[in-house]
Amino acid sequence: MLQEAIKTIKNAKALVAFTGAGISVESGIPPFRGAGGLWERYDPSAIDIDFFYSNPKESWREMKKIFFNSMGQAEPNTAHKVLADWEKKGLLKGIITQNIDNLHQRAGSVNVKEFHGTINYLLCTGCGKRYHLGEVDLNAELPSCKACGAFLKPDFIFYGEGINPKVYQESLDLAYTADVMLVIGTSGEVMPACALPLTAKQNGAKIIEINTLPSTYTDSISDFYFERKAGELFGEIAKVFR
Ligand code: APR
Repeated sequence: MLQEAIKTIKNAKALVAFTGAGISVESGIPPFRGAGGLWERYDPSAIDIDFFYSNPKESWREMKKIFFNSMGQAEPNTAHKVLADWEKKGLLKGIITQNIDNLHQRAGSVNVKEFHGTINYLLCTGCGKRYHLGEVDLNAELPSCKACGAFLKPDFIFYGEGINPKVYQESLDLAYTADVMLVIGTSGEVMPACALPLTAKQNGAKIIEINTLPSTYTDSISDFYFERKAGELFGEIAKVFR
């Protein structure tokens, strides 16, 4: 089956990757769902948009534990690096990621659609000024704007917040044009992101899924399913591609 999938990847005219938290687990970032998942330990309401605006201090206290502490020291793993290499070689058109950890870009990927935004930037809730993460003092109980004093919001999508229309459209365009989509490390449970592989499938794409557990896609749209760790499997595939 792996040989068949590799042949499908090699013959792809528009190979696109759709990734979720699972691709970053081997980089030390916990997934949201499943054993040891973040939502087993923390309350997702901490990143509900209404809760954030009415309880910014509490939301920030939780966000630091959920996101900022674990993502700070994570490094891209083999899966991120192989996808970046394939883009450089013109094999991969682009990546739609649900992840906010910036690991695809740090691995060298350029055409990355961050469907849920990024941890790398923050926006002022008062004047809209944009800050890079490195400019912000996260030790402050409530990180605030140097210009107007209002508190900052990480530039990722909270529950109850809409997806950036430009990113949404670009992601849909990639999903429509794909003739092969790699679906890597996602439980496929969060709308509207999880509909993107369905869009690709409806347009005739072959779906190659890599997940350590079956997902909502496995028995419905996946043409290939590898119950493997993404980093490990991509390490094996890359050897054949050499
Ligand atoms: N390799 C491949 N898959 C893995 C690995 C691994 N090493 N480790 C875990 N997985 C799989 C799990 O089996 C699970 O199906 O990755 C998936 C992670 O699923 P989730 O934690 O639900 O993450 P994701 O699908 O990206 O969540 C989507 O939910 O909370 C929101 O905004 C958040 O972007 C996130 C969205």
